[in-house]
Amino acid sequence: MSGLPEGYRVRPFTPDDSSAVAEFFNRVEQEPESADSLRSRFEKYPSTMSVQRLIVEHYGTPVAYGHSVALHEAGGTQPLVFIIRADVVPKHEGRGIGRHLFWLSESFARDKGAAWLMSKVRDDLDRGLRFLEKLGYRQEQHLYGVILDLEGWDQPLVLPEGIEIKSWADYPDDAVHRRRLYECTIAADADTPGIELWGLVEYDDWDKYTFESRWFRPAGCLIAVDKSGEWVGVSVAGPTDEDNVSTDFTGVIRSHRGLGIARALKVAGAQWAKSIGAKRIHTYNDDRNGPMRHINFDLGFQPQTGWRMMRKDP
Ligand SMILES: CC(C)(COP(=O)(O)OP(=O)(O)OC[C@H]1O[C@@H](n2cnc3c(N)ncnc32)[C@H](O)[C@@H]1OP(=O)(O)O)[C@@H](O)C(=O)NCCC(=O)NCCS
Repeated sequence: MSGLPEGYRVRPFTPDDSSAVAEFFNRVEQEPESADSLRSRFEKYPSTMSVQRLIVEHYGTPVAYGHSVALHEAGGTQPLVFIIRADVVPKHEGRGIGRHLFWLSESFARDKGAAWLMSKVRDDLDRGLRFLEKLGYRQEQHLYGVILDLEGWDQPLVLPEGIEIKSWADYPDDAVHRRRLYECTIAADADTPGIELWGLVEYDDWDKYTFESRWFRPAGCLIAVDKSGEWVGVSVAGPTDEDNVSTDFTGVIRSHRGLGIARALKVAGAQWAKSIGAKRIHTYNDDRNGPMRHINFDLGFQPQTGWRMMRKDP
């Protein structure tokens, strides 16, 4: 491990660093994040979860941020994946700060029993790619954001025969219905490209992540119901700020695919986003997801610069 040059020191992140970190993130992220939403997102992580967030200061001013975050707690059926990230202010690049933060983050993940480490880099950031490759990361997945401009967008909702679209707001928010939504979600998610890398989310993590998220809105959580009352598809979207809605997941159970259900859910989701005054709706696609890419492009979504998801064995 290399140390830090003179004048730099590492210390734990505190919530008061949120605006500096939001600025660092917004240099590369495509969905802008405010200091407040970042603060609340960071505070949401349960204290039992394995998370290390660090700040590097240069004579007292934050100039870099690094984290090592477990996607869930140890002991479940999912692989214990740690997300490693470092953001260094351009003026302070090339001084070994990113490498130092990665070393600290990877050591933390290793101590906690990480199955593997994941980091990401935007397609146009060659320097970041070279940095990760040098540290031993290899590309495992390629994702890119797609964005639909809702101003002027208008498409009718065409329901496949025998299918109704309901929302979470139509049902009591109780354990039985939450479990039903979860079962439908993971039945579909089992076929999402990349699931072999991330694993299927366990109920408790999903429940927390979904219902305690700032973006969750009952009316934005859409459920496709067939004639027999079975829940056969879901699409969950919510606002990330007053202009933007993000779709977290869309899926249809295997027996009901190819009938136009996902398309109907996406149209209903975009209509809902428009009804709450959003200007854009955003989601991520895997290069390998033929049907989802087809639906999104057909509805008018435009691709953004993609991301390489890079993996390293600890
Ligand atoms: C992706 C998914 C949601 C699609 O659901 P669906 O209800 O079968 O989709 P629809 O029937 O509404 O539409 C599928 C469209 O993709 C097209 N399509 C199917 N396979 C395709 C492929 N390999 N390449 C391109 N287009 C394809 C179909 O022809 C259809 O288009 P059309 O209506 O113009 O003919 C479903 O396959 C799924 O749940 N997969 C696993 C979960 C997942 O990957 N979710 C997305 C990640 S967030």
